[in-house]
Amino acid sequence: MKKYKNIDIDLKDRSYRIVINDNIQETLFGVLSEIISRPKVFIVTDENVAGFVLPAIRKILDDEKIETQVIILPPGEKSKSFAQLEGLIEELLNLKIERQDTLIALGGGVIGDLVGFTASIIFRGIDFIQIPTTLLSQVDSSVGGKTAINMANGKNLVGAFYQPKAVIADVSLLVTLPHREIVSGYAEVIKYAVLGNKKFFKWLKHNQQGILKLNTDLLVKAVSTSCEMKARIVEKDESEKGSRALLNLGHTFGHAIENKLNNDGPGILHGEAVGFGMCLSAQLSNQMNLCTTSEVNEIINLIKDAGISTNISELNYNLEANEIISILSRDKKRKDNKSTLILLNGIGEAFIKDGVDDNTIKEFLLSVGFN
Ligand code: GLY
Repeated sequence: MKKYKNIDIDLKDRSYRIVINDNIQETLFGVLSEIISRPKVFIVTDENVAGFVLPAIRKILDDEKIETQVIILPPGEKSKSFAQLEGLIEELLNLKIERQDTLIALGGGVIGDLVGFTASIIFRGIDFIQIPTTLLSQVDSSVGGKTAINMANGKNLVGAFYQPKAVIADVSLLVTLPHREIVSGYAEVIKYAVLGNKKFFKWLKHNQQGILKLNTDLLVKAVSTSCEMKARIVEKDESEKGSRALLNLGHTFGHAIENKLNNDGPGILHGEAVGFGMCLSAQLSNQMNLCTTSEVNEIINLIKDAGISTNISELNYNLEANEIISILSRDKKRKDNKSTLILLNGIGEAFIKDGVDDNTIKEFLLSVGFN
């Protein structure tokens, strides 16, 4: 099987290519040479990534006589802050960055979101490239132009839609990730199947263990199918006025659970929360007679077999329905004091359900074991 896949995302003058492969060395210069207007780039990465992939990337750029400045930030969600944004911009200005220079975001979703937002505002916008190094960022955050930082009031509250000039996703970079991080990213892969691709769902059922063991051919197919689906959705609705919201399947419940467990509980990774949230969306769809019990069980079993908690008892935390409702009430996607949820008419048939009231959600949560 060919270990390369290019996906073009058509957004008029903001169009770009997503290159999926297993050897960034072979593609980096080719991609860069089509984008950069002078041989100088600024790489922003974090301490975890700097050790293993940065030296190889620097060598390619040195060999091609591209001047490289590197900024290494601390890892973790705390870097998505106003303070870090200001610090990064000051550092870039001190390094004499100019309008025609290109920023490279080398890392996971935190780096991608922070660097993308920086690129969108420095000099009113400069070019940037995403080189995602986690499965989660390869299949989701590096594609589609959502950039943001967090506020005390919630995650991703300040940001911009700002598309990169290219995305290079090298699946061989994933080998150093802890298995739990792989599983977390893989939950977003399942999301694409559940929201709009039953054939992909069946393929995942047969190939999930190989993907999670990082079989390269399977990973290239899983990442490229996910990116292809995201590209087509973003082309139709770049700024999430409508159908892009389908990508939030599992996220409304997932974010609320993430918020609770990460603020005063045992902690949970984003994809784990999304996986759990997808189970809730499927169960609620079933209670509303939209989706059959056997399809709900298929979804839950796939998520469970990947190693993600699917039942509240496995979260080892006392989750109260009222607390979840109170977190939902602060959701930036809420309209007229009611929640918008992504529900399912079946596997591969997600739709946007506006106007779900808090009582309906509360009764549902109590029925699946929330207190
Ligand atoms: N992560 C969801 C989106 O990009 O719309």
